Amino acid sequence: MSTPSTMVCRLRVNGDAVACAVSPGTTLLEALRYGLGLTGSKQGCDKGDCGACTVVVDGEPVLSCITLAAACEGREIVTVEGLARDGSPHALQDAFDLAGGAQCGFCTPGVLMSAWALLQREASPGREAIALALSGNLCRCTGYTRIFEAVELAAARLREARGR
Ligand code: FES
Ligand code: FES
Repeated sequence: MSTPSTMVCRLRVNGDAVACAVSPGTTLLEALRYGLGLTGSKQGCDKGDCGACTVVVDGEPVLSCITLAAACEGREIVTVEGLARDGSPHALQDAFDLAGGAQCGFCTPGVLMSAWALLQREASPGREAIALALSGNLCRCTGYTRIFEAVELAAARLREARGR
């Protein structure tokens, strides 16, 4: 049963209008994972250090574990579940597969979302820009080189698909 402090939070997630019950302290990550069943965003450190929970809010990567769900009302949220289209993986997801950018995969949803936000605003990011954009996403497995290569590959393929 709802407690008096429970409220309905209306969000736009991956293009859909959704609602879930939250308390004033519910984080966006908790709302996504436990309220909406979107478990792609990972709960790693839960204190803003690892980036595993990264989602994109109004075009900017956000650490959803330290963002209140209520603060995201009316904003456009994209999670890793929103990358694939019509059953086909996004170019970034394909490139991570091809380039070996994911090993255990725990960091991957957050890395993908930081990379996706970067490619939304920059079609040809250099290695330095990619490293900077992903600097908040910790990966214990890959040593990052293959992640950077995967982002470069995806960027090239997206440019090719757009004919430039
Ligand atoms: S789970 Fe959010 S930064 Fe680690
Ligand atoms: S692939 Fe394992 S933490 Fe990045």
